[in-house]
Amino acid sequence: LSVLSAASEAVPLVKTGGLADVAGALPAAVSAHGIEMTTFLPGYPAVAKAMGRRRVIHEWDSLLGQKARLLSGRIGTHKLLVLDCPAFFARDGGPYSDGKGQDWADNWHRFAAFGRAAADIASGKVKGCRFDLVHAHDWQAAMAIAYLKLASDAPDMPSVMTIHNMAFQGYYDAAIFPRLGLPQSAWSVDGVESYGGVGFLKAGMQLADIITTVSPSYAAEIRQPEFGMGLEGLVALRGDRVRGILNGIDRAVWNPETDAAIAATYSHRSLAKRKANKRAIEKEFGLEKGEEPLFTVVSRLTWQKGMDVLIEVLDHLAGLGGRLALLGSGDKAIEAALHEAAARHPGRIAVRIGYDEALSHQLQAGADAILVPSRFEPCGLTQLYGLAYGCLPVVARTGGLADTVIDANPAALAQGVATGVQFDGVHYHALRSAIDRTMALYAQPETWRKIQRNGMKSDFSWNASGRAYADLYRELTGKAA
Ligand code: ADP
Ligand code: GLC
Repeated sequence: LSVLSAASEAVPLVKTGGLADVAGALPAAVSAHGIEMTTFLPGYPAVAKAMGRRRVIHEWDSLLGQKARLLSGRIGTHKLLVLDCPAFFARDGGPYSDGKGQDWADNWHRFAAFGRAAADIASGKVKGCRFDLVHAHDWQAAMAIAYLKLASDAPDMPSVMTIHNMAFQGYYDAAIFPRLGLPQSAWSVDGVESYGGVGFLKAGMQLADIITTVSPSYAAEIRQPEFGMGLEGLVALRGDRVRGILNGIDRAVWNPETDAAIAATYSHRSLAKRKANKRAIEKEFGLEKGEEPLFTVVSRLTWQKGMDVLIEVLDHLAGLGGRLALLGSGDKAIEAALHEAAARHPGRIAVRIGYDEALSHQLQAGADAILVPSRFEPCGLTQLYGLAYGCLPVVARTGGLADTVIDANPAALAQGVATGVQFDGVHYHALRSAIDRTMALYAQPETWRKIQRNGMKSDFSWNASGRAYADLYRELTGKAA
């Protein structure tokens, strides 16, 4: 059974967030369950460069108005198709925005073309390519399903739309509709129309056979206005078609026993070795050396992630003797406020603005706890990395954070099953008392080590979720193999 997975980013080629981790890990995860997956990516400069040997297997004279080619290659054992369309993708800057963080003005055009190409590939227009199902990730790939269902020779091909984040919908002015090359009938509430404009994610959700999202809790939450961001009605309408499948983590990349990016490798049997990693962070961030709890944050610096509330509690955290090493980038106002907090507490609070994959591993390996105060979190991966690395997750009880961390409440402690700390509501008092509870647990070394070990021993590999996706593909195609 052969699946075309269309995504706008995938590790190790291009990453801005968790979507890349998931799209990069999925092929191996489902291949273990007999599914052959090919990943389809836009040809950003970094992708073209990393791809190495490639073949041109198709050409478009006009893909929504631009010349394009389809490249076929591999990265490791992983099959790759890349849309080489210089007019859309050969640019400096990020996948979605320029160097200053401004969204590319033609994003609708770039990702509609990406979707159009995916539909062409899936529907058999490209010689030598044959697929049984299309799996589209997020709004950037969602139009693949719209083109497939509304303007292709294979409207019955099964499709899966995965929502990694409902907050990003690819919503555009109605004026783009005539330029999408869709039949006029697509301009309807059953098609791509959404609140008077064109909704890319909405179209994918409307037309896919199955909608999945990345945790069971988030799958339930998006039925409510607070999380559904205007699409809660559609989620409710298609309720029997919505499933939550938890993300896994790639243990080949995230394993403290073998991680080449950390100062000292260790396992749940040799937790004392984490100390060398703590020292490495103190040195790297210019923090005071000490045994007091060291918190970390590795995150996009945005409202979703609750970073404004984090800033409010930093004086309290430092006042208790805690320290923080933060790595992230995002909103300029949040970055500035973090710098101010660091200046108020030199040696206790340190901030690194930027994106640094290796440093993110080091932080998980040496910090005592990772703070994830998200207002909403479809799945969240950093708390899973924290669990795997003995870096206690302190998380808001929402979405995937609610589904993956077991709060150290008295019952869980008595049963010996706690793996972290959860709190309700992302506001000052809730986060502050979660930090207080974390500090109190840290003051009980045996309890703390037990919680660390519980997390490290739990299974967040892709095994179960790889099977869940494979089962879903089989269910939709009616094919056993
Ligand atoms: P989201 O996708 O919403 O940003 P996730 O928790 O699912 O949240 O995934 C975030 C991913 O990006 C993780 O792999 C995390 O380690 C990584 N990450 C986030 N910010 C940074 C950063 N500044 N440097 C390195 N890695 C980062
Ligand atoms: C999104 C979500 C995050 C999730 C990731 C991968 O970026 O914000 O919660 O873990 O996608 O599915």
